[in-house]
Formats: sequence, structure tokens, C-alpha cells
Amino acid sequence: MQTAISIEKIRADFPILKRKVRNDKQLVYFDNAATAQKPIQVINAISDFYTNHNSNIHRAVHALAEEATEAYEMTRDKVAKFLNILDRQEIIFVRGTTEAINLVAYTWGRQNVKAGDIIVTTEYEHHSNIVPWQLLTQEKGAKLEYIGVNDDGELLLDQLDTYLATGKVKLVAISQMSNVLGTITDMPAVMQKCKKAGVRVLVDGAQSVPHMKVDLQNLGCDFFAFSAHKMLGPTGVGVLWVRKELLEQMIPFHGGGDMIREVHKYETTWNDLPYKFEAGTPNIADVIGFSAALDYLNNLGMDFVRNHEIEITKYALEKMSAIKGLKIYGTKDISKRGGVISFNFADIHPHDLATIIDEEGVAIRSGHHCAQVLMERLDVAATSRASFYIYNTKEEVDVLIKSLEKAARLFKL
Ligand code: ALA
Repeated sequence: MQTAISIEKIRADFPILKRKVRNDKQLVYFDNAATAQKPIQVINAISDFYTNHNSNIHRAVHALAEEATEAYEMTRDKVAKFLNILDRQEIIFVRGTTEAINLVAYTWGRQNVKAGDIIVTTEYEHHSNIVPWQLLTQEKGAKLEYIGVNDDGELLLDQLDTYLATGKVKLVAISQMSNVLGTITDMPAVMQKCKKAGVRVLVDGAQSVPHMKVDLQNLGCDFFAFSAHKMLGPTGVGVLWVRKELLEQMIPFHGGGDMIREVHKYETTWNDLPYKFEAGTPNIADVIGFSAALDYLNNLGMDFVRNHEIEITKYALEKMSAIKGLKIYGTKDISKRGGVISFNFADIHPHDLATIIDEEGVAIRSGHHCAQVLMERLDVAATSRASFYIYNTKEEVDVLIKSLEKAARLFKL
């Protein structure tokens, strides 16, 4: 477990955490599941690229082009190491998790899913792991089925057995951690069932990769998607990893520069992997910024990250559970949840609650969190959500608790 001093050191790397917001209140940033703040190392890496190295990549032979290409490609190697990926050709840079999942739906999905097939997802998915599958199944005359969520916010995995028993499931698209409940999916159980049935698995790692050690060799899935901006990196960068034998069969997603080998009037041949899937000038500066984010997390160690979040989340759950009328969603078992707490407070609308809390400088998210299927399951229109990261402290949780007590006074609870 970390000491207070190390968290202070971490906080010193994040200029935005010094900000005063509403009424000159010290910012308490608890909206990390939406996007994480950026350390100075990431900000400097982006600035250094534009100041000293700016060039396109993979094209020219001049010095700047070589430097930019090398730095961009180095990020790919760092991603490989971070997730224990053996083949760098399996790593595709995209704009984010949403684009990664759409890429799979539009390429592998279009090629492999046909009328009568089933795609299985879950009731706790983000819209980005639902809507692409709705579009695909509607186009193909296939079916979309959902693994339900129990009252503790955990998946009813027996339902997966029922779907797999039909012999019609082509893909299971599942999040490794819910962005609303924080539930950590029992991936070994999911993988064991799907492997036995010979079914492909896509994992949405947007909420897991920033917060816990993920090893793709161990995980054993076929497709894996995540975003840089939730793990200290810039927005507009994400990663899609695809098992090579599948990637080799997949048609391109976008056509354009850099993804081709030869273009003639009526036919084109494709570039090698992964470039076949990286059409056009990519987000070079931000991919290089992401490199600095990976360095930062590597220096801390993902065990440190997870342990710190467990400590903060446990503390927050204890304090929040003691507030009368406050309902917390999801499991109380800290080993099964990440640093995300969704809640409702009596009948205060989450937007009103978030506004009162914001008056104290505390940034939380309120709304449906791009998970309306889950909101329906919970029978609520919206929740408030506090989500934590490496720089958050127990003292900040105390500020949240005080602001909740203020809300209680205002609403005469
Ligand atoms: N997916 C992000 C969230 O959960 C935006 O807030």
C-alpha cells in the first residue's frame, strides 16, 4: 500500500489538480471513468512533438519523418509490453474504444455473421458495445441477446450457457469492467465457456486496462479494445488488438493512404498488418503522448494502481453506506469491483445532486453514463457516479461526503 507522500508526489505531476473551481473551491476530480487527468509528462511529450519533431509518419525519408515514425512505432511496442502481446502487428491504433468495436463489427462482423446467428452481449455494456452489434444484427437478420445482471450488479453467467447451447452464437462482446457499477467481469469463467463452445470473444477493456493488470496471453480473447484517455493519455487514441489469424482474414475498415501496397484504377492491394487498418494520417502527436502515459503507469506499477483504488473505494463505500437514504449500486465485494461508485440519494435527481456537489468543487458524472440498457435494468433514469484514480485521496472522499450532507440539508432529508 502507498504512503500519503507518494500520492502527494503523484498529484504534483498533474497541474490541473491545483485548479480552483466554483466559488474558489479546490477541485476534487471524481470523474475518472469518463476521462482521466493528464500528468505533465504526457503534456510535455505532446508539446515536445509539435515543438521539435512534427512530421507525418511512414512516408518521407527526412530526419523529422524518421523521428516521428520511430516515436509513433515505439508506442506500439510499449502497448505490446503493457498487455503482454507477443506480436506487434496485432495492435491497431484507432480513435478509441468506440472506433475499435465498430471496426470489428464492420469488418469481421460483416464477413462472419449471417442470418440466424446470435451475438451475445450484457446488460451492463456501454452503448459502444451495444449499438454496433444492433446495427450488424439488424443488417444481417441475426439476433442480439443479453446476459442479465443480478441485484448485486454481477452477470448471470448461467444465461451465457443457455445461449451457447443453441450452437448459434458467433460472438460474445463483453466488458471487462462496468463503467457504471464497477463490476469486474469473471473473464476466466466467460473464456472457459466460450472456448469450450468455440465462440469468439471481444472484450471492452476501456474501464479495466487503466485500473488493473491485464495480460492478453492469459485472458485468451480474440478482440480487445481500450482507450488511452482513461489511462492518463490523450483523447483521440485507442487500441484494437486482434488475434492475428483473424486480422489476416479481415477486410479493411477505412480505405485511404498508408493502408495500401499498390493502387490501380480498379483494384488495390493492402499494406502489411497493422497498417492495413490505419488509413490516413493517424493521431501521431497523441499516440506519442500515450507513450508517456504508459511510462507513467509502468513506473507506478499496475498493482499499485489497483491497490490504491481499492483503498479509496473501500473508504468511500464505508462512508457513503452510512448516509441515510443513499443507495449504492453494485457489489459490496471490493475484490469484484473497480473504483467506480454509482448511487442515488433519496429522490434527488442525479443532475441536481451533481450540481450541488459541484458547488463544493467536486466533479462527478450524473446521467445514464451511456448505459441505458443497464439503467432500465436498475429501473432508474439516471445515477450519480464517483470514479477514482491514482491521484485521489481519502481527504477528497471526505469533501464528497460533506457535499452529500449539504445536499441532505438542502433537500431536508
Ligand atoms: N465511457 C465514459 C464514461 O463512462 C465516457 O463516462
